[in-house]
Amino acid sequence: MRIDVVTIFPGYFDALELSLLGKARRRGLIDVRVHDLRDSAHDKHRTVDDTPSGGGAGMVMTPEPWGEALDAILAEGAEADRPAGEPEPLLLFPSPAGEVFTQRMARELAEERHLVFGCGRYEGIDQRVFDEYAERGRVRLVSIGDYVLNGGEVAAIAMIEAIGRLVPGVVGNPDSLVEESHEADGLLEYPSYTKPAVWRGREVPPVLLSGDHAAVEAWRREQRIERTRRVRPELLPRELRGGAPGRHAAD
Ligand code: ADE
Repeated sequence: MRIDVVTIFPGYFDALELSLLGKARRRGLIDVRVHDLRDSAHDKHRTVDDTPSGGGAGMVMTPEPWGEALDAILAEGAEADRPAGEPEPLLLFPSPAGEVFTQRMARELAEERHLVFGCGRYEGIDQRVFDEYAERGRVRLVSIGDYVLNGGEVAAIAMIEAIGRLVPGVVGNPDSLVEESHEADGLLEYPSYTKPAVWRGREVPPVLLSGDHAAVEAWRREQRIERTRRVRPELLPRELRGGAPGRHAAD
Protein backbone atom coordinates (compact mmCIF):
# COMPACT_ATOMS: atom_id res chain seq x y z
CA MET A 1 0.00 0.00 0.00
CA ARG A 2 1.19 3.51 -0.76
CA ILE A 3 0.31 6.42 1.53
CA ASP A 4 1.13 10.06 0.74
CA VAL A 5 0.67 12.75 3.37
CA VAL A 6 0.58 16.50 2.74
CA THR A 7 1.17 18.67 5.82
CA ILE A 8 2.92 21.80 7.04
CA PHE A 9 4.34 19.74 9.93
CA PRO A 10 6.15 16.72 8.42
CA GLY A 11 7.83 16.10 11.80
CA TYR A 12 4.61 14.69 13.26
CA PHE A 13 4.93 11.70 10.97
CA ASP A 14 8.32 10.66 12.36
CA ALA A 15 6.18 8.58 14.75
CA LEU A 16 5.38 6.27 11.83
CA GLU A 17 9.00 5.10 11.82
CA LEU A 18 8.45 3.39 15.17
CA SER A 19 7.06 0.02 16.17
CA LEU A 20 5.05 -2.28 13.89
CA LEU A 21 4.36 0.33 11.23
CA GLY A 22 8.01 1.34 11.04
CA LYS A 23 8.90 -2.31 10.58
CA ALA A 24 6.22 -2.69 7.89
CA ARG A 25 7.69 0.31 6.05
CA ARG A 26 11.21 -1.11 6.21
CA ARG A 27 9.86 -4.42 4.89
CA GLY A 28 8.21 -2.59 1.98
CA LEU A 29 4.64 -3.50 2.98
CA ILE A 30 3.63 0.14 3.39
CA ASP A 31 5.26 2.97 1.46
CA VAL A 32 4.65 6.25 3.35
CA ARG A 33 5.77 9.52 1.74
CA VAL A 34 5.40 12.79 3.61
CA HIS A 35 5.30 16.09 1.69
CA ASP A 36 5.70 19.59 3.11
CA LEU A 37 2.86 21.77 1.78
CA ARG A 38 5.13 24.80 2.06
CA ASP A 39 7.28 23.39 -0.75
CA SER A 40 4.31 24.26 -2.98
CA ALA A 41 4.04 27.86 -1.71
CA HIS A 42 6.30 30.16 -3.68
CA ASP A 43 6.27 33.55 -1.97
CA LYS A 44 9.12 34.66 0.27
CA HIS A 45 7.38 33.47 3.45
CA ARG A 46 6.02 30.27 1.91
CA THR A 47 2.51 31.36 2.90
CA VAL A 48 -0.25 28.74 2.93
CA ASP A 49 -3.13 30.66 4.57
CA ASP A 50 -5.16 33.83 4.34
CA THR A 51 -8.12 35.54 6.00
CA PRO A 52 -11.56 33.95 5.51
CA SER A 53 -13.77 35.30 2.73
CA GLY A 54 -16.77 36.95 4.36
CA GLY A 55 -14.83 37.67 7.55
CA GLY A 56 -14.57 35.80 10.82
CA ALA A 57 -11.90 34.49 13.14
CA GLY A 58 -8.79 32.55 12.17
CA MET A 59 -7.17 31.78 8.86
CA VAL A 60 -8.08 29.46 5.97
CA MET A 61 -5.59 27.46 3.91
CA THR A 62 -5.38 28.82 0.36
CA PRO A 63 -6.14 26.54 -2.59
CA GLU A 64 -3.03 27.14 -4.73
CA PRO A 65 -0.41 25.22 -2.67
CA TRP A 66 -2.88 22.37 -2.16
CA GLY A 67 -3.59 22.20 -5.89
CA GLU A 68 0.09 22.08 -6.76
CA ALA A 69 0.97 19.48 -4.09
CA LEU A 70 -1.96 17.17 -4.83
CA ASP A 71 -1.58 17.44 -8.62
CA ALA A 72 2.06 16.36 -8.31
CA ILE A 73 1.18 13.34 -6.15
CA LEU A 74 -1.70 12.28 -8.41
CA ALA A 75 0.43 12.70 -11.55
CA GLU A 76 3.23 10.66 -10.05
CA GLY A 77 0.73 8.00 -8.95
CA ALA A 78 -0.64 7.87 -12.50
CA GLU A 79 2.82 7.50 -14.03
CA ALA A 80 3.81 4.86 -11.52
CA ASP A 81 2.67 1.29 -11.67
CA ARG A 82 -1.12 1.62 -11.48
CA PRO A 83 -2.52 -1.29 -13.48
CA ALA A 84 -5.25 -0.50 -16.03
CA GLY A 85 -8.67 -0.36 -14.42
CA GLU A 86 -7.22 0.25 -10.95
CA PRO A 87 -9.08 3.09 -9.15
CA GLU A 88 -7.52 6.50 -8.65
CA PRO A 89 -5.86 7.20 -5.31
CA LEU A 90 -8.37 8.00 -2.57
CA LEU A 91 -7.97 11.48 -1.05
CA LEU A 92 -8.71 11.66 2.67
CA PHE A 93 -8.98 14.97 4.50
CA PRO A 94 -9.09 14.66 8.31
CA SER A 95 -11.74 17.09 9.51
CA PRO A 96 -14.06 17.39 12.51
CA ALA A 97 -16.76 18.02 9.89
CA GLY A 98 -16.21 14.64 8.20
CA GLU A 99 -17.84 11.21 8.47
CA VAL A 100 -16.72 9.32 11.58
CA PHE A 101 -13.79 6.93 11.16
CA THR A 102 -14.58 3.43 12.43
CA GLN A 103 -13.01 -0.02 12.40
CA ARG A 104 -15.31 -0.81 9.48
CA MET A 105 -13.85 2.12 7.53
CA ALA A 106 -10.31 1.04 8.49
CA ARG A 107 -11.03 -2.39 7.00
CA GLU A 108 -12.44 -0.84 3.85
CA LEU A 109 -9.46 1.54 3.44
CA ALA A 110 -6.94 -1.27 4.07
CA GLU A 111 -8.08 -2.68 0.69
CA GLU A 112 -6.97 0.46 -1.16
CA ARG A 113 -3.73 0.61 -3.11
CA HIS A 114 -3.01 4.32 -2.67
CA LEU A 115 -4.26 6.74 0.01
CA VAL A 116 -3.46 10.45 0.10
CA PHE A 117 -3.99 12.32 3.38
CA GLY A 118 -4.34 16.12 3.22
CA CYS A 119 -3.81 17.58 6.69
CA GLY A 120 -5.44 20.96 7.18
CA ARG A 121 -4.60 23.46 9.91
CA TYR A 122 -6.17 26.68 11.14
CA GLU A 123 -9.86 26.99 10.26
CA GLY A 124 -9.51 24.42 7.48
CA ILE A 125 -8.85 24.32 3.74
CA ASP A 126 -10.61 26.39 1.07
CA GLN A 127 -13.71 24.37 0.05
CA ARG A 128 -12.77 24.58 -3.64
CA VAL A 129 -9.91 22.12 -3.05
CA PHE A 130 -12.41 19.42 -1.99
CA ASP A 131 -14.76 20.34 -4.86
CA GLU A 132 -11.96 20.21 -7.44
CA TYR A 133 -10.70 16.76 -6.48
CA ALA A 134 -14.17 15.33 -5.83
CA GLU A 135 -14.97 16.21 -9.45
CA ARG A 136 -11.79 14.52 -10.64
CA GLY A 137 -11.78 11.47 -8.36
CA ARG A 138 -12.60 10.18 -4.89
CA VAL A 139 -12.50 12.44 -1.83
CA ARG A 140 -13.62 11.76 1.75
CA LEU A 141 -13.59 14.06 4.77
CA VAL A 142 -13.06 11.95 7.87
CA SER A 143 -13.30 12.75 11.59
CA ILE A 144 -11.71 10.61 14.29
CA GLY A 145 -14.25 11.70 16.87
CA ASP A 146 -16.43 14.47 18.21
CA TYR A 147 -13.70 16.76 19.49
CA VAL A 148 -11.49 19.36 17.84
CA LEU A 149 -7.76 18.95 17.27
CA ASN A 150 -5.41 21.71 16.14
CA GLY A 151 -5.01 20.11 12.73
CA GLY A 152 -5.35 16.91 10.78
CA GLU A 153 -1.92 15.45 11.57
CA VAL A 154 -2.73 13.53 14.74
CA ALA A 155 -5.97 12.29 13.17
CA ALA A 156 -4.08 11.11 10.06
CA ILE A 157 -1.55 9.24 12.22
CA ALA A 158 -4.37 7.51 14.11
CA MET A 159 -6.04 6.47 10.84
CA ILE A 160 -2.78 5.35 9.22
CA GLU A 161 -2.05 3.14 12.23
CA ALA A 162 -5.55 1.64 12.27
CA ILE A 163 -5.47 1.01 8.51
CA GLY A 164 -1.82 -0.03 8.28
CA ARG A 165 -2.10 -2.80 10.87
CA LEU A 166 -4.83 -4.41 8.73
CA VAL A 167 -2.57 -4.64 5.67
CA PRO A 168 -1.69 -8.33 5.28
CA GLY A 169 1.67 -9.17 6.84
CA VAL A 170 1.94 -6.07 9.05
CA VAL A 171 0.72 -7.81 12.22
CA GLY A 172 2.57 -11.11 12.62
CA ASN A 173 -0.30 -13.18 14.02
CA PRO A 174 -3.53 -12.37 12.14
CA ASP A 175 -5.54 -14.04 14.95
CA SER A 176 -4.70 -11.10 17.16
CA LEU A 177 -6.65 -8.85 14.78
CA VAL A 178 -9.84 -10.84 15.25
CA GLU A 179 -10.11 -10.97 19.04
CA GLU A 180 -10.26 -7.24 19.50
CA SER A 181 -12.66 -4.50 20.45
CA HIS A 182 -14.75 -3.36 17.47
CA GLU A 183 -14.03 -6.52 15.49
CA ALA A 184 -16.22 -9.55 14.68
CA ASP A 185 -19.26 -9.33 16.98
CA GLY A 186 -18.82 -5.65 17.86
CA LEU A 187 -18.30 -6.26 21.59
CA LEU A 188 -15.46 -4.60 23.50
CA GLU A 189 -12.41 -6.65 24.44
CA TYR A 190 -12.26 -8.74 27.63
CA PRO A 191 -9.78 -7.72 30.39
CA SER A 192 -6.32 -9.31 30.07
CA TYR A 193 -4.05 -10.68 32.80
CA THR A 194 -0.55 -12.18 32.91
CA LYS A 195 1.94 -13.26 35.59
CA PRO A 196 2.38 -13.00 38.55
CA ALA A 197 -0.80 -14.77 39.74
CA VAL A 198 -1.03 -12.32 42.65
CA TRP A 199 0.12 -8.69 42.49
CA ARG A 200 -0.34 -6.35 45.48
CA GLY A 201 -2.93 -8.76 46.79
CA ARG A 202 -4.88 -8.70 43.50
CA GLU A 203 -5.43 -12.13 41.99
CA VAL A 204 -5.71 -13.21 38.39
CA PRO A 205 -9.32 -14.51 38.14
CA PRO A 206 -9.00 -18.22 39.07
CA VAL A 207 -10.89 -19.40 35.97
CA LEU A 208 -7.99 -18.15 33.81
CA LEU A 209 -5.62 -20.49 35.68
CA SER A 210 -8.03 -23.45 35.62
CA GLY A 211 -6.89 -24.90 32.30
CA ASP A 212 -10.58 -25.32 31.37
CA HIS A 213 -10.70 -23.73 27.91
CA ALA A 214 -14.49 -23.77 27.63
CA ALA A 215 -14.80 -22.05 31.01
CA VAL A 216 -12.20 -19.44 29.99
CA GLU A 217 -14.06 -18.75 26.76
CA ALA A 218 -17.39 -18.43 28.58
CA TRP A 219 -15.87 -16.06 31.18
CA ARG A 220 -14.29 -13.89 28.50
CA ARG A 221 -17.53 -13.58 26.56
CA GLU A 222 -19.41 -12.67 29.73
CA GLN A 223 -16.80 -9.99 30.52
CA ARG A 224 -17.07 -8.57 27.03
CA ILE A 225 -20.85 -8.33 27.25
CA GLU A 226 -20.78 -6.83 30.73
CA ARG A 227 -18.13 -4.26 29.80
CA THR A 228 -19.91 -3.28 26.60
CA ARG A 229 -23.23 -2.93 28.45
CA ARG A 230 -21.57 -0.74 31.09
CA VAL A 231 -19.46 1.62 28.95
CA ARG A 232 -20.82 1.45 25.40
CA PRO A 233 -24.42 0.13 25.57
CA GLU A 234 -25.13 1.43 22.06
CA LEU A 235 -22.70 -1.20 20.68
CA LEU A 236 -24.56 -4.17 22.19
CA PRO A 237 -26.09 -6.44 19.56
CA ARG A 238 -29.90 -6.38 19.68
CA GLU A 239 -30.18 -9.90 21.13
CA LEU A 240 -28.06 -8.88 24.13
CA ARG A 241 -29.93 -5.66 24.94
CA GLY A 242 -32.32 -5.34 27.82
CA GLY A 243 -30.62 -7.98 30.02
CA ALA A 244 -29.57 -7.32 33.62
CA PRO A 245 -28.59 -3.68 34.11
CA GLY A 246 -24.84 -3.11 33.89
CA ARG A 247 -22.88 -2.72 37.09
CA HIS A 248 -20.99 0.52 37.36
CA ALA A 249 -17.48 1.04 38.68
CA ALA A 250 -18.94 3.16 41.49
CA ASP A 251 -21.38 0.39 42.64
N1 ADE B 1 -9.01 17.99 12.68
C1 ADE B 1 -9.38 18.66 13.78
N2 ADE B 1 -10.15 17.89 14.56
C2 ADE B 1 -10.29 16.69 13.93
C3 ADE B 1 -10.97 15.48 14.23
N3 ADE B 1 -11.69 15.34 15.34
N4 ADE B 1 -10.88 14.48 13.34
C4 ADE B 1 -10.18 14.61 12.22
N5 ADE B 1 -9.51 15.71 11.89
C5 ADE B 1 -9.55 16.76 12.73
